Amino acid sequence: MTFVIHKKMISTNIEHAIHLLKSNNVIGLPTETVYGLAGNAYSETAIKKIYEIKKRPSFNPLIVHIKSYNDINTVAVDIPEKAHLLAKAFWPGPLTLLLKKQPTISGLVTSDLDTVAVRVPNHPVALDVLDKLDFPLVAPSANPFTRISPTKPEHVASYFKNEIELVLDGGTCSSGVESTIVGFEANKVIVYRFGALSLEAIEKVVGPISIINKSKESPKAPGMLLKHYSPKTEFILTRNIQSELEWYKGKKIGLLLFSKSYPDFEPHLQQVLSKGESLDEAASNLYQALHELDKQNLDIIIAERFPEYGLGITINDRLERASKK
Ligand code: TXA
Ligand code: MG
Repeated sequence: MTFVIHKKMISTNIEHAIHLLKSNNVIGLPTETVYGLAGNAYSETAIKKIYEIKKRPSFNPLIVHIKSYNDINTVAVDIPEKAHLLAKAFWPGPLTLLLKKQPTISGLVTSDLDTVAVRVPNHPVALDVLDKLDFPLVAPSANPFTRISPTKPEHVASYFKNEIELVLDGGTCSSGVESTIVGFEANKVIVYRFGALSLEAIEKVVGPISIINKSKESPKAPGMLLKHYSPKTEFILTRNIQSELEWYKGKKIGLLLFSKSYPDFEPHLQQVLSKGESLDEAASNLYQALHELDKQNLDIIIAERFPEYGLGITINDRLERASKK
């Protein structure tokens, strides 16, 4: 991918954003997780544009973004107690709840499911925009289907230079990976997508949770599609970097590492995600590092497997999907 930066597209002009959204257009919107491709959740025109621009299959539903917990009843009905507890604990923030939808939410948003995905983003620009509108926003991550999600305005501008007019500049996303998605069945909380909120944090509020079976491609949460978040470059995930370096000797290799660099390896071809061994920091740098490695014309990217706790679980999930052919 060529990273031509389209400075004119990237702007902090909120009024322009409001004007575009009110006239059924789609914009790049910053959130704390990743940038979204946002449009009026009540506009069929805007929704259709989002699917078209993203080249997203129609069976993959969108997340509705509302401005506060107080608006939850405008999009959902029959909300379980545990959903209220989680919303109160984590909104605004990187947690998406799957709830029974209000009839006012179009089947175009939910791919005709009777549930709607909803969250309150924790980003001052997104909240300011939502506050100035009298409708919620649908916003999938602002990347073409299956590609790496954007964490900087330049990523969005470079993906969609001909398709959208404006990317609102909200700087680099602080969480850097998508929201965690949970649904509710009987009295149970089920995780559909690992994300920026750790499972441990959720369990502290609602007790033990279950995880949907990752090996099955579930149409209920296509975010669990096996191939996803993919660089163009060949990509492998390993517990043993050294032996892969030997195996791929002679190839142009890039490394994606947790905390330590390889002294005998070209520094600019290595991305170390957190020198201080923080999994949160590593998650926030993950997509930016993938974007960087992907533009180096490498033969292969070799990524190190992360510790399986906290956001390490989310990072490994994304790396596994990136490594799927
Ligand atoms: O952090 C995020 O969630 C970002 C920012 C922009 O808010 N958005 C995001 O959207 O990641 P997207 O469309 O890339 O991923 C949303 C995921 C999809 O995998 C979709 O299948 C799932 O949510 N989803 C949406 N509605 C659903 C529903 N009713 N039931 C099950 N899964 C649903
Ligand atoms: Mg996405």
